[in-house]
Amino acid sequence: MKTSIIYNSYSGNTRSVAEAVHAACGGDLIEVISKEYSSKITAYTIGCYRASKGMCDPIEPETIDVTASDVIVIGTPVWAGRATPAINAAVAALEGCNGKKAVVFATCRNNGGESLLNVKKAVEGRGVTVVGEFVFDKTGIKDPERINAMIAAIKAAGTTS
Ligand SMILES: Cc1cc2nc3c(=O)[nH]c(=O)nc-3n(C[C@H](O)[C@H](O)[C@H](O)COP(=O)(O)O)c2cc1C
Repeated sequence: MKTSIIYNSYSGNTRSVAEAVHAACGGDLIEVISKEYSSKITAYTIGCYRASKGMCDPIEPETIDVTASDVIVIGTPVWAGRATPAINAAVAALEGCNGKKAVVFATCRNNGGESLLNVKKAVEGRGVTVVGEFVFDKTGIKDPERINAMIAAIKAAGTTS
C-alpha cells in the first residue's frame, strides 16, 4: 500500500498527527502551505472569513499528484468550524485522485464544526471515496489510542478493495 498524507498546519498540531501517520504508514508526506497569512491576526480575521466561505488560498505546492498512491490522507486544522482555505485548495489541486480512497481528519481546540463534512464533500466531488473521518480535539491530539485508530483505518483502506 502507498499512502499520500496531505496536510496543512498553522501551529503544528495537524503536522504532529500527520507525522505520526507517516511514521506508521510511510508514503509521501506533503505539507500544504498557504501564501496568505503573514500574522496570527490575519489568520483569525481574513483566514476565518475565507474558511467560512469555503474559499481556496494560493498554496505551495500548486499541484499534488497522487497517481501512485492507493490511499489519500487529508488533514486540516479547523478554522471557524471549517477546513482551512489551504486544504480547500489542496483538494482542488489533486491530480490522479479519481477512484481512490481517502481518510480525512481535522484537529481543533474543541469543536470540529462542519470541517470534515466540507472536506468530504469536496474530495467526493473529485471522485474519491471517503472511508474514514476523524476529529482530534486538544485532548485527542495527545491520545495515542485515537491516533492509532486512524492509522488502523488507513491501513485497512489500503488492504481492502
Ligand atoms: C484562525 C484560527 C481559527 C480557529 N477556529 C477554531 C474553531 O472554529 N473551532 C475550534 O475548535 N478550534 C479552532 N481553532 C483552533 C485550531 O483548530 C486547533 O488549535 C488546531 O489543532 C490547530 O491546528 P494546527 O496547529 O495544525 O494549525 C482555530 C485556530 C486558528 C488559528
